[in-house]
Amino acid sequence: MSNAPNRVAVVTGANRGIGLEVARELARAGLTVVLTCRDEVKGTEAQKQLASEGVKVDVHSLDITNSGSIRDLALYLRKQYGRLDVLVNNAGIMLDKFENGEPVMSILDCDLSNVRKTMETNVYGALSMIKELLPLMKENHYGRIVNVSSGLGQMSEMGAGYAGYRLSKAALNALTCMVADEVTSENIIVNACCPGWVRTDMGGKHASRSVEEGADTIVWLCQAADGSPSGKLFRDREEQPW
Ligand SMILES: NC(=O)c1ccc[n+]([C@@H]2O[C@H](COP(=O)([O-])OP(=O)(O)OC[C@H]3O[C@@H](n4cnc5c(N)ncnc54)[C@H](OP(=O)(O)O)[C@@H]3O)[C@@H](O)[C@H]2O)c1
Repeated sequence: MSNAPNRVAVVTGANRGIGLEVARELARAGLTVVLTCRDEVKGTEAQKQLASEGVKVDVHSLDITNSGSIRDLALYLRKQYGRLDVLVNNAGIMLDKFENGEPVMSILDCDLSNVRKTMETNVYGALSMIKELLPLMKENHYGRIVNVSSGLGQMSEMGAGYAGYRLSKAALNALTCMVADEVTSENIIVNACCPGWVRTDMGGKHASRSVEEGADTIVWLCQAADGSPSGKLFRDREEQPW
């Protein structure tokens, strides 16, 4: 019998795309996975799909832009499991304008209301999740937080186009560093990850990577050993410049 604790993981936006694959792989790795999504029906469908593959996950509804919904999840985790070990801030949106299939290039032409909405989900949603759930991690002196970012948010590769999305992922990267710095002494490791260009509803069917390839580094970071790097950006299991 192993004395290792049964690790509990929460994945946001896990009813489809990269989040669903991360949930599948973490469950296969033996973690207890709480697959969260904002539409309960979609969550139950995803749960059934995984069950048909022999993969068992728990499901809970969650809208990361709704503080009441996040609090409900925190209460549920405390009551049901009494712990949280892994948080994957995967849920994300991209609302930037496209014309003739190409992103509108000038930041000066961006739709500010879309930029605000994108920040609300991709940045403040992730921040709210961390604020609400970090106390549960601190109680066990263990935590792994993975913020699913993008190469489009890297300052070293910053350019025109995708204004709201780029701003949001750059801010998510900054958030990663800030949180990591505050919890270094708590055995809580916080990193950002770029999954690459992945065939999902967001990435489109012409993207170069499968969801398995996109999920790989995220799942690897979720299981980082104590003392692993924190406050970094990874792609393909390798540290990247911000
Ligand atoms: N695909 C790529 O090429 C690519 C590249 C770089 C980074 N990423 C990042 O990878 C992550 C996952 O992307 P994906 O390609 O899997 O996208 P996706 O297929 O569009 O899935 C996005 C997920 O986020 C959920 N979501 C959106 N807003 C939410 C909210 N307020 N509360 C809870 N869930 C919400 C969606 O739920 P609904 O089904 O309810 O809408 C869906 O489950 C995102 O952070 C994205 O920015 C993707």
